[in-house]
Amino acid sequence: MISGVRPGPSGYSPAVPHTNEPPFQLIRLLGEGRVGEVWLAQQRTRGGISRLVAVKLLREAWDEDSDAINRLKDEGQALALLQHSCIPGFHEITQIDGRLALVTEYVEGVDLARFGTRGNLLPPRVAVDIVARVASALDWALTTPNPETGRPLNLIHRDVKPANIRLSDQGSVKLLDFGLARSSEMHRHAKTRMGEVLGTPGYAAPEALAFQVSRPPGDVYGLGCTLFELLVGEPFFHGLRIEQQAMLAVQSRDYRDFLAKRLLAVEHPDLRILLAEMLAYSPEKRLKAGTVCDVCEDQIRQMEGPTFPEWNRKRPAEDLQVNRTPTPLEQPIAAAAPQEPVSAAATAPVVEQQALNPWVVGGAVAVLASVLFCCGASSLAGALWFALG
Ligand SMILES: Nc1ncnc2c1ncn2[C@@H]1O[C@H](COP(=O)(O)OP(=O)(O)O)[C@@H](O)[C@H]1O
Ligand SMILES: [Mg+2]
Repeated sequence: MISGVRPGPSGYSPAVPHTNEPPFQLIRLLGEGRVGEVWLAQQRTRGGISRLVAVKLLREAWDEDSDAINRLKDEGQALALLQHSCIPGFHEITQIDGRLALVTEYVEGVDLARFGTRGNLLPPRVAVDIVARVASALDWALTTPNPETGRPLNLIHRDVKPANIRLSDQGSVKLLDFGLARSSEMHRHAKTRMGEVLGTPGYAAPEALAFQVSRPPGDVYGLGCTLFELLVGEPFFHGLRIEQQAMLAVQSRDYRDFLAKRLLAVEHPDLRILLAEMLAYSPEKRLKAGTVCDVCEDQIRQMEGPTFPEWNRKRPAEDLQVNRTPTPLEQPIAAAAPQEPVSAAATAPVVEQQALNPWVVGGAVAVLASVLFCCGASSLAGALWFALG
């Protein structure tokens, strides 16, 4: 149990702080995932200013130089470098009751994962508007210069999916969870190990799943899967087991047939073309994030219906109640699995993700390794088998 947790706030109190007042009061569990929990908290700064923040708290069981600690530091560093209206602001990294905590801007609103189901579809223009905004954040992460070197950050997110996109009540769209982000222009604490597949299977590009290649087109692919889901009402890889997705990832012709069939479910012809270019098998053929943003903005001008801000202002409250349990393909492939489950907080959490089932991933990688082996790529197959050990 976390000490120092107090009941919910009675409101903002910008009064002079008591010296023995804990700087953070955890209010409500917002999400639970890969490495820990995300809490809504009230922070009381030294100057006596109170504000609501989001606190990503690592689970207690991690040791000093663990992968989870390193990834949390990397996430803080990435957010600090990326100042963009579609990315939550970084506040600080600190310790709360001995647990490392990443403190960021609190995005009051709802996760995009609440939508994209048959009974709860967004108007298509709203979906395209949201995708345009996320694409602009991805483009920014690639192109914005590192203030120290002046070179583009070239930062990739590596886990773009509806559960990591949040619609704020104030009318903005925020790309969350830079916990797996990588940049050639940023010192990183965490290292990706040989044969390690990062991301979430149901949104992973073929090259990421098959060859562990993480490059900017992989983020556009995740965003393409997201747009598909928002328009069609089911995940792009709906009904496939992870082994089947892994097979498609190494067999380009089968993948292209699969893509062509899936796109038939998209009613709007221009959006079908856009999706074909976002979900292309070859990373080289995929649209760049900046182009996705331009194409979407073009579409928004031509389409009818509410824009995102118009729709968001009138977002029905009951939409917030819809809950979906993620399928295995929607759960992240974590850098490391938690050692112990953490007991649930008193307030019912909005749980978006669950801990990785290593067997699911292991099984997929095993199938993939066999396929590659049959194809003669024995050294790569060896690396994948090594990942299972
Ligand atoms: N800044 C934030 N404001 C509001 N909710 C947040 C914020 N950050 C995360 N969350 C909630 O917590 C969930 C998990 O956070 P995320 O950063 O995706 O961590 P994880 O690595 O566990 O997936 C999100 O899906 C979202 O519901
Ligand atoms: Mg997440």
